[in-house]
Amino acid sequence: MSTLRIAPSLLAADFARLADALSIAEEGGADLVHVDVMDGHFVPNLTIGPPVVRALRNATRMALDVHLMIETPEETLSEYLDSGADWVSVHVEATRHLQRCLALIRKGGAKAGAALNPATPPELLSSAWSDLDYAVVMSVNPGWGGQAFLPGSVEKVRRLRAAASEAGVRLVVEVDGGVDTGNSRALVSAGAEILVAGTAIYGADDPAAAIGRLRASAEGDRA
Ligand code: DX5
Ligand code: ZN
Repeated sequence: MSTLRIAPSLLAADFARLADALSIAEEGGADLVHVDVMDGHFVPNLTIGPPVVRALRNATRMALDVHLMIETPEETLSEYLDSGADWVSVHVEATRHLQRCLALIRKGGAKAGAALNPATPPELLSSAWSDLDYAVVMSVNPGWGGQAFLPGSVEKVRRLRAAASEAGVRLVVEVDGGVDTGNSRALVSAGAEILVAGTAIYGADDPAAAIGRLRASAEGDRA
């Protein structure tokens, strides 16, 4: 279980107090900070861009996991890399050039990820194994925080891990959307190694403690 990483999603934090949200993540023992970039096209919502990623970079030593929910990410990817992203994922539905995106991310020194919408089959990644460091299984339709977890995501994690290991590939699987203490154990048992959580952390009365509770539930302790 030592490979489990908890990634609080800043989308559920107060955008006027992002520095506090980073301190909470650090205090709670988070491993990564999840940053949701939305362009108003790939998803209807609009959030943050490279200048805010750079400001976050300057404000924390924690690794930044930047989730690009943007069309044609190959056009602006480098800006996020230059701004200090450590992990970058693009949506397979948003680009015709997945391999190029993944290669650009690695060339920029970051871990390369591909995100899958709930309706996108995991088999789509089989041509990209060697370019991938991680896959993001979206367990809600991207666009907003606070949505209900789609239960079929557990099986999708299992299928993805099985397909990767059949191909002889060590693939890290991240799950994003509606993750909480009620589904974390099943996700980890299915092979998830990174759990993103927004509402379950920043929506809690004590967000730092909520990180520990999520970790405990995922590792099989009583939450
Ligand atoms: C959804 C985002 C998620 C979101 C998760 O489009 O990609 O990262 O912030 O938030 P919760 O945990 O509230 O579903
Ligand atoms: Zn996300």
